[in-house]
Amino acid sequence: MDLNEAIHSRRSVRAYKDEPLTRETVDKLIRAAVQAPSASNRQPWAFVVIQGNERLQGLSERAKQHRLTDTQDPPSDSLRARLMDSGYNLFHGAGTLIVICATPVYRYAAEDCSLAAQNLMLTAHALGLGTCAIGLSRSFFNRADVKAEFNIPAEYTPVFPVVVGHPATVPAPTSRNEPEILAWVEG
Ligand SMILES: Cc1cc2nc3c(=O)[nH]c(=O)nc-3n(C[C@H](O)[C@H](O)[C@H](O)COP(=O)(O)O)c2cc1C
Repeated sequence: MDLNEAIHSRRSVRAYKDEPLTRETVDKLIRAAVQAPSASNRQPWAFVVIQGNERLQGLSERAKQHRLTDTQDPPSDSLRARLMDSGYNLFHGAGTLIVICATPVYRYAAEDCSLAAQNLMLTAHALGLGTCAIGLSRSFFNRADVKAEFNIPAEYTPVFPVVVGHPATVPAPTSRNEPEILAWVEG
């Protein structure tokens, strides 16, 4: 698959087969992630890999509960309804979650981690895998006790959780707005 095709055909996948990823595949994705550019080549990223459908199902319940009671960022009514639905798995039934964490924060660490995430998602897509960013779990992974549970140093910041797996269904394309060009200065 060429890069242009990969960029245009990638979709967020929200239904996965019960088919685990190998360590080699996860390693390949992380090695693609770290090829991303970063400010001053600081490479301010670190990775947590969590695998296993049952483990992720359990984490989904905990993360949903956390998000429901997050007083700093209270959920909207529609999000609350979704989070209260016992059938809603925050990780969409994927067997692998990779949490990209920023090493001690400097000005562009979040941007760099997001570029790494895009590399990971496009590489996964080119390998025939599906991915979905799970921003809804980010505040959960930033909790001190959860960071400790996954060996994330207190001074690191989980920035970009993303699930990966073998897609069960290929999602329909989502639309894009026309790009808003604010200025195009020539000549
Ligand atoms: C930072 C970020 C956070 C996201 N969080 C979630 C999420 O928590 N759950 C989810 O199902 N999708 C999540 N998404 C996926 C977006 O909903 C999706 O990218 C968008 O609707 C466009 O669809 P596409 O990825 O198929 O092109 C997130 C995407 C980004 C970039």
